[in-house]
Amino acid sequence: MATLEPIINEDERLPLILGFQKIADNTNQATRFVEYGKGIYVYDTDGREYIEATSSFYVASLGYNNEELIAAITAQYHELPFFVSALNRTSKSSLDLAERLVAIAPVKDAHILFGSTGSEAIDFLLKMLRFGAVARDEPQRQTVIGRHGSYHGGTLASASLTGGHHEEFGLPIEGFRHVSQPDYHGGRQPGQSTSEYSAGLADELRRLIEREPENTIAAFFAEPISFSAGFKVPPHEYFPAISKVLKEFAIDFVADEVVTGFGRTGSLFGCDTMNLQPDHVTMAKGITAGYFPLSAIAIGNELYRDLEVGSERFGTLAHAGTYAAHPVGAAAALKMIEIIERDNLVEHARRMGEYLSKRLQGFQGHPLVGEIRSLGLAASIDFLRRDVHDVPVNTDADELSLTVYTAMLELGVVVRPAGRSVVIAPPLIVRAAEIDEICLRMGRVLDNVWQKLNHKPSAAKR
Ligand SMILES: Cc1ncc(COP(=O)(O)O)c(C=O)c1O
Repeated sequence: MATLEPIINEDERLPLILGFQKIADNTNQATRFVEYGKGIYVYDTDGREYIEATSSFYVASLGYNNEELIAAITAQYHELPFFVSALNRTSKSSLDLAERLVAIAPVKDAHILFGSTGSEAIDFLLKMLRFGAVARDEPQRQTVIGRHGSYHGGTLASASLTGGHHEEFGLPIEGFRHVSQPDYHGGRQPGQSTSEYSAGLADELRRLIEREPENTIAAFFAEPISFSAGFKVPPHEYFPAISKVLKEFAIDFVADEVVTGFGRTGSLFGCDTMNLQPDHVTMAKGITAGYFPLSAIAIGNELYRDLEVGSERFGTLAHAGTYAAHPVGAAAALKMIEIIERDNLVEHARRMGEYLSKRLQGFQGHPLVGEIRSLGLAASIDFLRRDVHDVPVNTDADELSLTVYTAMLELGVVVRPAGRSVVIAPPLIVRAAEIDEICLRMGRVLDNVWQKLNHKPSAAKR
């Protein structure tokens, strides 16, 4: 194996590896060490304050010091701090949570399989789909389809389902295909309508399915709205067109609600917001507001029957996760769901989202801004601009997104750069005054970036 030259970096290397950055940046100087959090704010070891305007990767929906949630977790630690769910035993709190999830999940008569992370939820479901196919005597039905740009996790299978960063890891593993992400702003032909555009994507899906050997596709995975792909809200014709194709070929539709679940999109689930009827749903992140790692899969009735039949045939469902259905995670999720419902947090978040959207729309005329998208308590500013003939005009949108992200961080606001866009999705508990603050700083950053690009000062209205 050829030895690579070490990268010279004078700065002190950290003993840990951080993701989604260069390894050579794993240094003391390039890293901020966050020490504590309060409300929607986090504070680093230099005493700097940051508004976590992405809820730390769309997780901390109750903010950083929810005492009620901490108390529920502490109480569960005193009662039953750990228990494996397998071999005819489970914890009372996991059963209680499964019952709650069956009642609220957007899958009819679901059964719940727990995991610890979103990636595990994806992997476990892929395994169950394979087990189910074998049980149905359709063992060839193993291929699954994801979408370019969507992130589904860090394990081998979930990273293979993810629509990018394959080459450098020698992925995807066998059995993964990808189709285009709905990106109407970036991907439409000039003047193309949303229905024409959506029909084109459904055609692409159909062509892919028809190229594959018959009856080999098990499922199509999609987030109701892909945050990882830059919060590209699909046109309303998109999912109906896709669902029609999936139905025709008896392919399951899986909604990955790891990000969109638990109040982010203006309803409890993204499927409710987008009016989707998935066969299965994956959940994680907001399910415990991040206070404990826990994920869940709502498995539809038909697949459940296949699992039942298969486990008779094989004598067992040879699957478990030591920390899946962790009683402390279950207690956290139960409390989280109770708080959301009791405090009408979905409604509050929806109202705050409308306010955020209104404020951000003020940047629509800014010379750097191409499009503002928003839905529920989430929004993105897309830096791809189109001219009066609807033709894209700039190629520096990804760069602008990173520049704006860095400048916002310097001003103490964490937003998420995602391709051409920056995404904003503060905790569900955010208040209007805090949204004002985020938008005020965004306005400053946009103006500064514009001026630094040697253009004249902007007359952006807010
Ligand atoms: C849509 C989606 N699915 C799955 C995952 C993986 O979740 P985890 O990081 O908990 O493994 C993520 C993580 O960001 C995600 O955004």
